[in-house]
Amino acid sequence: MSEKIIITENLVKRFPVGDGEFTALNNINLSFEKGEFSGIIGPSGSGKTTLLNIIGSLDSPTEGSATVLGHRISDLSHKESAFLRNMHIGFIFQVYNLLPVYTVFENVEFALILQKRSATERKKAVMQALEWVGLENMADKKPSKLSGGEGQRVAIARAMVKRPELVLADEPTANLDAKNAHAILKTMKTLNKELNTTFLFSTHDEKVMDYLNRLVRLEDGEVDKDDIVQPKYMV
Ligand SMILES: Nc1ncnc2c1ncn2[C@@H]1O[C@H](COP(=O)(O)OP(=O)(O)O)[C@@H](O)[C@H]1O
Ligand SMILES: [Mg+2]
Repeated sequence: MSEKIIITENLVKRFPVGDGEFTALNNINLSFEKGEFSGIIGPSGSGKTTLLNIIGSLDSPTEGSATVLGHRISDLSHKESAFLRNMHIGFIFQVYNLLPVYTVFENVEFALILQKRSATERKKAVMQALEWVGLENMADKKPSKLSGGEGQRVAIARAMVKRPELVLADEPTANLDAKNAHAILKTMKTLNKELNTTFLFSTHDEKVMDYLNRLVRLEDGEVDKDDIVQPKYMV
């Protein structure tokens, strides 16, 4: 049975620029089902990040709607959208922003402190998440001691530790070499299969596209193509 967890209807996003406006997204009608492993692709400036930010309730549409996990984004108060993000959405960004004074364990644990989970529960969930990304032996390290690939894996653990329904990954391989990029994509694909977590990427990296089941291509803020594809790599 299919369950649409993201629906956009006639979504438009305009930004004020000088005296006028710039249309970053125009009339976007898309839906994504639970368990998809799909990507928003397209050249730089085509609107990928803007769309992901709206789906992640970090921003809202100017016109039309985005409904995510049953919530209409533009109807949510600040508190409600923060709650939706804390409980149900994991973010993986290009610049993964680990907190430098905290250990790997504490960086991953933070999401669960926001959820007010007990220390016992947190310990178990954090160690499980670090195992998923193969960093269980790095729990006590500070981010400055990690390689780029390891840092990005901590960012995946941080997004996955709360077992969110939806993970939004904005150009997650942009700072990685090919070997690390393939390793993190395999990890994400495995988690997608095992936990049925829905992943939505933004990318223009061919390596990422090779793992995806669906490619939605944006061009100047409009959906140019939307194709179901056979991924080159399975796990
Ligand atoms: N806050 C903003 N104010 C004005 N223009 C913006 C803002 N955010 C994005 N844009 C513009 O919207 C377009 C799409 O940006 P973005 O979604 O970041 O594209 P992509 O992620 O595909 O590179 C770009 O032309 C960008 O300059
Ligand atoms: Mg972007």
